[in-house]
Amino acid sequence: MNTNPIPLYGDRFQTDPVGLYREMRETHGPVVPILLAGNVPAWLVIGYRELHQVATNSDVFARSTRHWNAWGRVPEGWPMTPIINQIPSILYSDGEEHRRRARAISAALEAVDRHELRTVTTRMADRLVDGFCTSTGADLRQVYTSRLAGLVVGWTFGLDDAEGERLSSLITALVDADEDSAKAQGETFALLSELAASRAARPGHDVPSRMFAHPAGYTPQEIVEDLLVVLAAATQNVGEWLGNSLRLVLTDDRFAASVFGARSSVREALNEVLWEDTPCQVQPARFPTQDVELGGKLLRRGDMVLLGLAGANHDRQVHQGAAASHGGNHAHLSFSRGEHGCPYPAQEIAEIITTVGVEVLMDRLPDIELAVAPDEVRWRHSPWMRGVVSLPVHFSPAPRMGEV
Ligand code: HEM
Repeated sequence: MNTNPIPLYGDRFQTDPVGLYREMRETHGPVVPILLAGNVPAWLVIGYRELHQVATNSDVFARSTRHWNAWGRVPEGWPMTPIINQIPSILYSDGEEHRRRARAISAALEAVDRHELRTVTTRMADRLVDGFCTSTGADLRQVYTSRLAGLVVGWTFGLDDAEGERLSSLITALVDADEDSAKAQGETFALLSELAASRAARPGHDVPSRMFAHPAGYTPQEIVEDLLVVLAAATQNVGEWLGNSLRLVLTDDRFAASVFGARSSVREALNEVLWEDTPCQVQPARFPTQDVELGGKLLRRGDMVLLGLAGANHDRQVHQGAAASHGGNHAHLSFSRGEHGCPYPAQEIAEIITTVGVEVLMDRLPDIELAVAPDEVRWRHSPWMRGVVSLPVHFSPAPRMGEV
């Protein structure tokens, strides 16, 4: 048996993640020694119980990367620097500083009116569909799934439609990680800084204004840092959740027959995706504040521990096998748990955007079909996120909304 550390890169994260996690579990158990790019060592937790333990014990498993004991091993130009690099924000803070930010963000998201959110998401989804419905085909990732969440989150920030469009395009460029992404990052930062300054001067009924008004005492700089986290967390995850759900609905006969008109099947498809193809596969990172034993391994103080959310969802303790229906079982770890888990109101917002995104598309283009064979759909080359590279479909041309 090869007990060497497992590289956290390579094709199998795209082609056969379930088989890969099974092999990891058979060889190493629930806590797997891994190598990041540049042979930087870390641990990947794929046991359900062990992951729960890490996520819910924030005193022992800290979030701040200042605890990391391997900064000295990071090669120059390390590709993971943007993921690991410490930016002061809700994501990388611990203790009272984290609670201060988390309370304000949760309250600001909780106050988003769910009924209005549903109405606005429907309007945005219709507008995106209007952009391609008179043709006979499209790549849904390009024109729909990667754009909808940005538009809706822009609205919760109080941006108008044109600014929301701009933000949504910037995020798409950022996620594509090509030569435009550095420019897009700068522009996103500038747009959010302008937004924070304008809400500080003239508060409105939106997320940044509510963050300013919260007793947490946010500065404009802190608002920008945390708006960036909300924006990235929302657009990336919801975009992939929507794309992966549409892929499932368009490729699996169980859903193909029933989704049109049956709202309950949409919810089932969304839940199944969170178990089988969750958007956030691996979440960085925690650092033990003391030597600690976990899943039969000794983790040293300051070791990097990654949350293997997808691996833990497939732990036999909770997973009934791919063929089983997950029904109303929401015990997956796709939103993580504990203090740093995805804020509950954010999960609700995500579910509304994704549900409406599937429903509107199916309502508007009832004969929509995948334009390639199901096994030709390619997955993004990333151990961190799971989402399709493209989702080509064809359909009969349909009128724009105003022309119906
Ligand atoms: C499918 C949709 C989503 C998934 C799968 C998802 C998943 C996650 C995960 C895995 C984390 C990290 C948890 C950890 O480190 O323990 C997280 C954090 C976070 N998410 Fe989500 N998320 C989604 C949607 C959203 C949306 C729509 C928003 C905002 C509107 C959002 C806001 C946040 C924030 C602010 C954090 C940081 C929490 C903290 O560090 O305290 N997420 N999310």
